[in-house]
Amino acid sequence: MPVATEIHPIPGPLVDSDADLLALPLYSGDGGPRVVTAGVGLGPADLDTRLPASLAELLAYYKLDAKPGETLEFPVDLGRGLVRLALLGVGAGAPGDLRKAGAALTRLAKGRTRAATNIAFLGPGGTETATAGAGLTSFVEGALLAGYRFTLRSSAKGPEAVPAIDLVAEDPGRIAGPVRRGMTLARATELARDLINTPSAEKDPKWLADRAEKLGREAGLGVTVWDEAELERDGFGAILGVGRGSARPPRLVRLDYVPEEPTRHVVLVGKGVTFDTGGLSLKPNDNMKLMKTDMSGSAVVMGVMSALADLGVRARVTGLVALAENSVSDRAQRPGDVVTAYGGRTVEVLNTDAEGRLVMADAMAYAVAGLEPDVLVDVATLTGAAKLALGTGIGALFSTDDALASALSEAAEASDEPVWRMPLVEEYRDTLDSQVADLANIGTNKDYGTPGATEAAMFLREFAGGLPWAHLDIAGPGRSTSEDGVLTKGGTGFSTRLLLRWLSA
Ligand code: BES
Ligand code: MN
Ligand code: ZN
Repeated sequence: MPVATEIHPIPGPLVDSDADLLALPLYSGDGGPRVVTAGVGLGPADLDTRLPASLAELLAYYKLDAKPGETLEFPVDLGRGLVRLALLGVGAGAPGDLRKAGAALTRLAKGRTRAATNIAFLGPGGTETATAGAGLTSFVEGALLAGYRFTLRSSAKGPEAVPAIDLVAEDPGRIAGPVRRGMTLARATELARDLINTPSAEKDPKWLADRAEKLGREAGLGVTVWDEAELERDGFGAILGVGRGSARPPRLVRLDYVPEEPTRHVVLVGKGVTFDTGGLSLKPNDNMKLMKTDMSGSAVVMGVMSALADLGVRARVTGLVALAENSVSDRAQRPGDVVTAYGGRTVEVLNTDAEGRLVMADAMAYAVAGLEPDVLVDVATLTGAAKLALGTGIGALFSTDDALASALSEAAEASDEPVWRMPLVEEYRDTLDSQVADLANIGTNKDYGTPGATEAAMFLREFAGGLPWAHLDIAGPGRSTSEDGVLTKGGTGFSTRLLLRWLSA
């Protein structure tokens, strides 16, 4: 769904804006919270006379401590009747604080048509100069993502309008770059959210492949799509096995971003199970009802690929999305069946609900054999165990490479999409041994307990060809059940921004 919020850099002063909500940053400088009045067009003394009490008195009365995202609003007359003046907590003004503030402003202004703020006058540490790039980018990201809506309601009860936001700046041209970067990061995430939130009655592998093709063309990417006959021809037995039970056959999509003189080649692989019933190892309904989101990894990869050119990413990036519906029928793969993954390795399918690692294995093996990547990163809603271990707030990161793990963790922190590195435990390796095939798709040695997220990661590692590889299990943070900050109910597109920050660092 196109997001209604728009962000416009405009020349000041703020009092000249015809917005119905004017927001002034409140930051926690030395000596207590302080309101930024630069760019407002009224001095602090002048402002005081128009408020119900002076700013200093109001801050003391309401005991505001400038917490990021804290808001307080008053009606004031700035010369053209009453408007709402909001104080918007921005903490110390760090990028993460400004992201929260942006989200809070959108949520505060919901139902209005236009808000305006002089936040661009807040520099790092709260100095009243033009805000440095990263902070403004985060503010825009927060403001846009908090306004994201997905609805299939009939028009009578459409979503509440979100406002356009005017960013007053001394020199609007100078903030255009960071604003645009924030918009690109948010748009990529929104694209992922739309795909994730689309019900699976509409969203089958072909539908998602068509969407990938369309966005690929729009973003100037190379696009290759394998249909079921081509998957068969080229030996993608694992994707085909997962999709066999569905009347809606699987697809593999490759998106190619090739800048001039690329610095390195990164391959991104996304899990695209358009609905996960569990297959013949059927899920109970409570677990199954959320499974339209089981293609979140592929949605993230698609969102990322759509934004690379806009962000001027210097690496060559190839996105692979492995699309299949894990369904039930007399044709479905059975527990005990053996599939042959791309390149020839055989896998015994002991549980058809461990299907994500199968589709990923085919795509990863293809990347290793045919694409000469320098780095391989995969994203998947892979295991309930990752969600159990870390909850909905944090993604699980597994990696064979310390430098890669640190770089991703840093980008995760900068995006406020936190990840926690988990171990690949060598002693557990034999749990993937199969009686009949090269590998089993679930752990077979119960002596280790059932470290589900680790087993799945170690299974994937078998297909990483010894490359520097990282795996993001986003089963927990891929969905949100609350409206909070940048999160909206449903698919979150978690890790879209972290991957883009990592790629554009
Ligand atoms: N798609 C699920 C994982 C999942 C669970 C994602 C909850 C989001 C929320 C995956 O395909 C799956 O079913 N994994 C099984 C693996 C098991 C059979 C070894 C799981 O985690 O239970
Ligand atoms: Mn499953
Ligand atoms: Zn799944």
